Amino acid sequence: MSEMRVERAAIVVGANGAIGNAMLERFERDTSLDKVFAISRTARRSSAAVSASNSKVIWLESDASENSIGKVCKHIKQHGCALTHIVIATGKLHDEAKSVAPEKRIDSLAYDSLAEVFSINTFLPMLWLSKFAGLLNRNQKTVISVLSARVGSIADNQLGGWYTYRGSKAALNMMLKTLAIEFQRRYPLVKLIAFHPGTTNSKLSEPFQANVPPEKLFTPEFVAQQLWTLMNSAPVDGQLSYQDWQHQDIAW
Ligand SMILES: NC(=O)c1ccc[n+]([C@@H]2O[C@H](COP(=O)([O-])OP(=O)(O)OC[C@H]3O[C@@H](n4cnc5c(N)ncnc54)[C@H](OP(=O)(O)O)[C@@H]3O)[C@@H](O)[C@H]2O)c1
Repeated sequence: MSEMRVERAAIVVGANGAIGNAMLERFERDTSLDKVFAISRTARRSSAAVSASNSKVIWLESDASENSIGKVCKHIKQHGCALTHIVIATGKLHDEAKSVAPEKRIDSLAYDSLAEVFSINTFLPMLWLSKFAGLLNRNQKTVISVLSARVGSIADNQLGGWYTYRGSKAALNMMLKTLAIEFQRRYPLVKLIAFHPGTTNSKLSEPFQANVPPEKLFTPEFVAQQLWTLMNSAPVDGQLSYQDWQHQDIAW
C-alpha cells in the first residue's frame, strides 16, 4: 500500500495588507506548497495575478478576536497539513481619522492610541502564535516570520519620536525572543524571524514616503521575494533572527 503524502502548507496572517498579499502571491507560485491559508479581517481583494479556478489558497476570515483566532486554527488543523512557512504581516502606524498617528513629542501620548497600536502590533501576533503552537509538529521544519520594524531596535534609536510604534515593535521583539527560547525545547525545528521590510509602498507607509528616495521605496512584491528567500535559507538554530530585507542582522 502506498503511503499518503502529507500536504505542505503556508499561512499568511493579514493577507489583505500590501506585504501580506504579496507574500500570499509569492507562496501561491511556490510549487513546493500544496495549500496556502490566507487570513484576513475581510474577503480577498481581487488580484489580476491569480487565477481563481486553480488557486491553492484557502481564505479564512477572522475579526482578530481570540474566539475567531481559535476557530481559524481549528479549521487549519482539520486539513492535517505540514506547515512549512508562517508569515504574520499585521501592523498599524496611523489611521485615516488621525486618531492614531506617530508622536513627535511625549505630550502627544494618549492611552487609546497606545492601547490600539500595542494591541495590533504586539498582542495580536502573539495571540496568533499562541494558537499556532498547537498546529506545529516537533519533527517538521517550520519557518515563522513576523513583520517587525527597524524602529523597534533600542540600539538603533538615534532619532527618537514614534513612541508607541517603536515601543510596540520592541515589545514584539522581546516576546518573539521569549518564544524562540520556549520553542528550542518544544519545537526544535522551528525558526523564528522578526523581519524589517524596509520602507515599502503601502497604506501604512503612505503618509511618510515624501522624504524617501524612489530607490529606497520598495514594492511589496520585491519585499515578499526578499522575505521568501530569507525564509528558505534561514538556519534552524533555535534563535530569533532580527533581520532586514537585505538579510542583514539588526542590532537589538
Ligand atoms: N510598509 C512599510 O514601510 C513598513 C516598514 C516597516 C515595517 N512594516 C511592517 O510591515 C507590516 C505590514 O505592513 P504593510 O506595509 O503591509 O501595511 P498595510 O498594507 O497597511 O497592511 C496592514 C496589515 O495589518 C492588518 N491590520 C490592520 N489593522 C488591523 C486591525 N485593527 N486588526 C487586525 N489586523 C489589522 C491588515 O490585515 P487585514 O488583511 O485584516 O486587512 C494588514 O495585513 C506591519 O507590521 C508593519 O509595521 C512596514
